[in-house]
This record gives sequence, C-alpha cells and structure tokens, in this order.
Amino acid sequence: MQKVINDGWEFSLDGGAYQPVELPHDWLIYDTNNLYKDGVGRYRRTLGADFWEEGQRVFVNFDGVYMDCALYVNGAAAGEWKYGYTAFEFDITGILSHGEENTLLLEVNYRSPNSRWYSGAGIFRDVTLKVKNACHFVSNGIYITTQKKDGRWDYTVTAEVETGGKPYEIRHTLLEGGEIEAWDIEHPTLYTLRSELLADGQIADTEDTRFGFREIAFEPDSGFFLNGRHVKLNGVCLHHDLGALGAAVHKDAARRQLTLLRGMGVNAIRTSHNPPARVFMELCDEMGFLVMSELCDMWEQSKTEYDYARFFNDWVERDAASWIRRDRNSPSVILWSVGNEIQDTHDSAERGGEILRRLMGLVAKHDPGGHARVTLCSNYMPWENTQRCADSIKLIGYNYAERCYAEHHAAHPDWIIYGSETCSVVQSRGIYHFPLSEPILSDDDLQCSSLGNSTVSWGAENTEACILADPPFSAGQFVWSGQDYIGEPTPYQTKSSYFGQIDTAGFPKDSFYIFKAVWTDEPMIHLYPHWDHSPGQMIDVRAATNAPCAELFLNGRSLGAVALNGRFVADWRVPYEAGELRAAAYDREGNAVAEAVRRTFGDAVGLSLQTEVYGELRFVTVTAVDANGNTVENAGNRVLVRVEGGTLLGLDNGDSTDFDQYKTDSRRLFNGRLTAIVRRDGTPRVSAVFDDSDVPVRKIELTADGFTVTAHILPENATYADLSWRLTDAAGIDSQAGELTVCGSTAVITPKGGGDVWVRCCANNGRGHISLISQISLMK
Ligand code: GAL
Repeated sequence: MQKVINDGWEFSLDGGAYQPVELPHDWLIYDTNNLYKDGVGRYRRTLGADFWEEGQRVFVNFDGVYMDCALYVNGAAAGEWKYGYTAFEFDITGILSHGEENTLLLEVNYRSPNSRWYSGAGIFRDVTLKVKNACHFVSNGIYITTQKKDGRWDYTVTAEVETGGKPYEIRHTLLEGGEIEAWDIEHPTLYTLRSELLADGQIADTEDTRFGFREIAFEPDSGFFLNGRHVKLNGVCLHHDLGALGAAVHKDAARRQLTLLRGMGVNAIRTSHNPPARVFMELCDEMGFLVMSELCDMWEQSKTEYDYARFFNDWVERDAASWIRRDRNSPSVILWSVGNEIQDTHDSAERGGEILRRLMGLVAKHDPGGHARVTLCSNYMPWENTQRCADSIKLIGYNYAERCYAEHHAAHPDWIIYGSETCSVVQSRGIYHFPLSEPILSDDDLQCSSLGNSTVSWGAENTEACILADPPFSAGQFVWSGQDYIGEPTPYQTKSSYFGQIDTAGFPKDSFYIFKAVWTDEPMIHLYPHWDHSPGQMIDVRAATNAPCAELFLNGRSLGAVALNGRFVADWRVPYEAGELRAAAYDREGNAVAEAVRRTFGDAVGLSLQTEVYGELRFVTVTAVDANGNTVENAGNRVLVRVEGGTLLGLDNGDSTDFDQYKTDSRRLFNGRLTAIVRRDGTPRVSAVFDDSDVPVRKIELTADGFTVTAHILPENATYADLSWRLTDAAGIDSQAGELTVCGSTAVITPKGGGDVWVRCCANNGRGHISLISQISLMK
C-alpha cells in the first residue's frame, strides 16, 4: 500500500493553536510583508490504528520540507532532515502502536536568511505513507538504463531489496507492448516497468517505474545529442516558487508554467539551484523537457547565515543519494549539476577540487550507468582555480561568461561548454522607460524597463545580445530566468525578481517574444510598447520577429521597412500620435506572413475574464477593457474577485512593488491585468468587479506649449491627484539645465543653457513611492 497523505493535517506556528491545513503548504506566503520571518512550524496528523499488519513495515516519505525538520511518531523521535529540497523517508514501524491511534508530528525550524531567493517554509511537497511486506523493494532502489543496440532498444535493470536473508526472485515486465518508441522532446513516450518481488512463492512487493528509452551524448565541438539528433539546449533557469501559491508545489500550476515556457520555444529547464519536486520531474518526463537537476547553491562556504552550508559536510552523502536516486529513471534528466557559483572552487583549487571529486563520486555511485552527465555551473570560470576544478568534470556550465567560450574551447578541446546562466536582463511587464538608447537600470517607480534598456553589470547587454553570443560549439544556454520568482528583486528592495521572461502571474514580457522569434519556427511578430502616450512624445517602437523583414504603419502610413539581417528585433522611433500602430512581417519573397497591431485605448469601463484550465486549477485572467473592447494596457484599477464552486487560491498581477496579499480577493491590476488562481470544488464561477474606492492614475498625458507643460490625469475620476515634477536628463538624472515652477497641473520651465531637457511628472497612486512616470523631452 502506498498513498499520498496530504489531507488531514493540522498546523501550528510558533506555539499557536493548531489549525486544519492542506498540504503542500508554505506558511510564509500568507503574509507578503513577512516573507522571510523566522518561525517554528509544527504539523500533526493522525494515521489511525492497525492500518498495517504484524511483520509489515511502515514508511513515511516527505518529498520536501523547508528546512531543518524533525519527525516524531507518538512522541518518539523518528528522524531528522536538514536540507529543504531533498526527499526523505523514515521507517517508523518500531515506534507505531497497535490497537491505538498513531500520530505524526513534524517540527520545522525555519531561519533566515538562508538563500538569495524566496524559499517558503513548511511541508511544501507531497507526503506519502507506504506499508510494505517484510520482503520489499528498497525505496528508489530500482534503476533502469536504456541502450540502443543494432537498431533495437533494450534496457538493463537492477533492483535493491530487503528480504531479511530470505531467498527471492524478481520479475520485471514491460507493461506496454509493441515496437519501442524513443523518448524525445517532441514525442515523450513513456513506458512502465512492473517489478515484482517473489518470496515463498508469493508476490511480496510490486513497484511500477515510469521511464523512457533514450540516449544522450555531449560533444565538445557540437554540443548535445538526443537519440543521435543534435538538439540545442534552449533552456531557462527556474526557481521553485509558483507565484501566489508560494513554494507549495501544485502539479497543475507547474504544468501551466511549463506550457507557457513551451510557447516561448523552451526545451530545457535548469532547476536552479536545487532538486525540484518529484511532480515537476513527472511533468518534464510527460511533456518532453530536458532537465538539469541541481544539487545546491553552496558547499562548505556559506552565502547566507542559515543556508545549507551549515549542514553540507555531514549531510551531503544522504542528500546526494536522495537527489539522484529519486529521479535517475526520469528520461528528462540529462545533467546532474553538483553546484552553482561555488565559492569553494574559486578560493582553492585543492579543497574545491576535493569536494568536487567527492560529489562526482556520489553521482557515479547512484547513477553508475551514466543516465545523466555530471556538471558544475560557475561564474568563476574566468579564473584559474575553478578552471582547474572544471578540468576534472569536462562538461562545464558558464554563468555570464560568454566572453571566455572561444578561448577556453581552443585551450581545452575536450571541454563541453554551455551557458548555465545567461541574460539576466531585468524588466517589468508593460513598463517602458524611454529612450531605448539610455541604459536605465533603476528608476523612480521601482520598475525596470521592458524596452530592453534595463540591464545589470554582470548580465547580457540585452536579450538579443544574449542569444547571439551562443556559438555553434556550445550545447546551448539556460536563460536567467524563465519566470519571475519571489525574492532577489535586483535592483530594488521590492518583492519579486525582474529577471523572468514571464512575470510571477504568468504574463509574458516583451522579451519572451524575442526568444520565441529565435526558438520557434511559426512566422510571428510582436509589437511593443502599448500605444497610449503623450502627443508628440518620441517613442521607441520595437518588433520582435523571426521574419527577415518588418514594416511599421501608423494610422495607415508606412514608417519604413527594416531588414533584420540575422537580428530578431526591428526598431523605429516614432513621435506619438493616437490611433493604430501596425507591424507587418514579410518573408524573403515579400509576402506578409504575420502582423501585430496596437491601438490607442481609453479609460477602463469593464473587465473581461479569460480562463485557462489545468487539471483542478483555473487560471483566470482579469483584463481591463475600454469602451471599444481594447485592453487598457496601463490600467491599475483595484478589482474584487468572487468565486463560487471553487476556492480562490490567490491573486497576482506580477508587480514586484505591490505588497498586497496574494491570499486575498482584492488586488490592483498591474498594467491592465491580473490572474486569479481558483481550485475547482464544483463548477467554478468566477466574477470580477471594479472597486471604485481605489482608481489609480493610469496615465499622465503631458502637452507642451513652448516651455509650459500641462499634465492631464486619466482617468479623470482617479482617486489620487498628487503629482510631482522633476527636470531630468535622458537617463532620468536631475538636470540643472533649467528651473521648474509648478502651478497646479502646469509646470513652467525656465531654461539655463542649450540642449535637451526632460520634464517628468509622476504619481504615487497611494503608494509610499512613485508608481507612475510620464515624461516628454523639450528642446531648449
Ligand atoms: C547568478 C546566480 C543566480 C541569480 C542571478 C541573477 O549569479 O547564480 O542565482 O542570483 O545571478 O542575475
């Protein structure tokens, strides 16, 4: 018997009263203002009486508990586990009592800081109860490798058993018949191996293992091969949180995340910087993603006070065993990364190399058939110590070091090189800081520009540059990051990261389409920014496309065609004029193959709801629309969401600066949209209405008459009218090139000297900081 026991638990935080709770559970996600608060969480559950027979063995398996926990059964210690991202299992037979209720109590001691990103806290993955006969297969003891010999697929299987010395037999049966098909990213065919353990002529234990037939190879000059076919790794790095659901894993939410990424052309995932939930691996197997599974972000040297380095030396053998053994039959796993940005290899090639070899030994011990290859991901590859370590591993992930590839490839012809982390361009969905020619990392609104001009010092110059930097000999790259995650809000002190191609709510940012242009074949064009600015304001208009030529039209007039010549983004500069902006993509013969349109929109008058169904979850996009049904791309209205026939699990708009709770029924839209996550109980009916008490300014329209600039707030009935003004240079830095006198909604500029000056008018919209910037440039 084996069953998932996520139901029937109660939870108490810091000695408070126990409350019923559903697993998987992340107690920190319930308060966005305290996402890193230390605490001791206790989970308890009764198991019932006499659910096992004399002589049987009872195990309880936790797929992940963050972090540092101990299990008690009927008050007696059953075991402890330190690392938050590896699964563990305890044999609790000896401390169970027959004839009475048995109780599990799991105590978690969460202390922060323990990572750069948001970890969440608690039993954030599945719990499984297993009752086994005395003779049984050891958990994760079945190991299958597949080979193609003389054009035919074959498999080899080994199994570990616990029989107390009894004689036994093992029978393996492939449940699916017919010609074997390979597991491939396009056709991820899976098979089930049924393993039966026979003792005393009886079947004592049965295990079904899902696996796939596939072969992988890495070559120094050409990269990765799957079943003999060359495949470029078009990968992304993902942290484990699921936005409003926090770190509590939900298979249907992960399925949506992967489906969205598939739409961008992603074929590989790096589970940065830790082993993922088992359900995530199942999805990658089923959906045909290649996976780099990573062990950890640090070894002996810590990065934060309470991170895994506290436990590394004592626990890494157990963690590595758990990490590899659970997933070593998953066809999706192609790489085992023994660590990310490991300081130990940088400080000392001797000590770093020693630990590296220890970890390589552990991988080889648990994956002796080389189901996946071992790798190390490092930002220290430009330096000698890590290079010396890397030489023993040969397959090396570079973090932000494309500049070294050619030289290292020439110097070490046996190294297989790929980008384990690339890009790190930061952007907020729907936010544009003009002009594109100015690198603007941070600004008054605590947002990053989606134009592509918000870049960090260590990352790529822009998204296109990151794509173009990958040479043919590289196995490919893993972009940082696929989706925004909670935590690490570089360059601010806000809530969630700006690195994703998709925001935390699941809405693609513009750069998503740049990757899509390169990583998918269907003709496409994506036009940005939205088309609602101040009259005459100079706008950088961009179109991401996989076509060789694109042409832009404003209100029917051509603004010119651009030949892409191996690039993927076409650029124009256009003085804003309301109306319709249209981009057409042409093939080499000049046929129009795709088009994209942006129309000027008005104030929000209604909400439109669109539902995506993933298993028991509904992801409902709530969008503000104007009187003509156009999306109001800058609307920030507060909306109230009501659900019948289901449970509202969270609201998210992807705005890193918004600390409103996720677990609520009231949120502001961010640039026109939010997502409601609903679990189906019956037939869910979701509705949304505006909350008229909170209508933020969506646009400050600026008009200039000589050196007099007038601001007009939209919508006119906005709840907030507190405007602030600044005179700046193009990069948003205070300018001394004039003086500004504000009178109501008008500002008069007295110039001092010549050149361009920018007038910026901002609104806080009820926040403690500027949340909306509007600006126009004036020639002096
Ligand atoms: C890398 C690191 C990631 C993330 C990223 C942000 O150096 O490995 O975890 O911090 O930078 O750019």
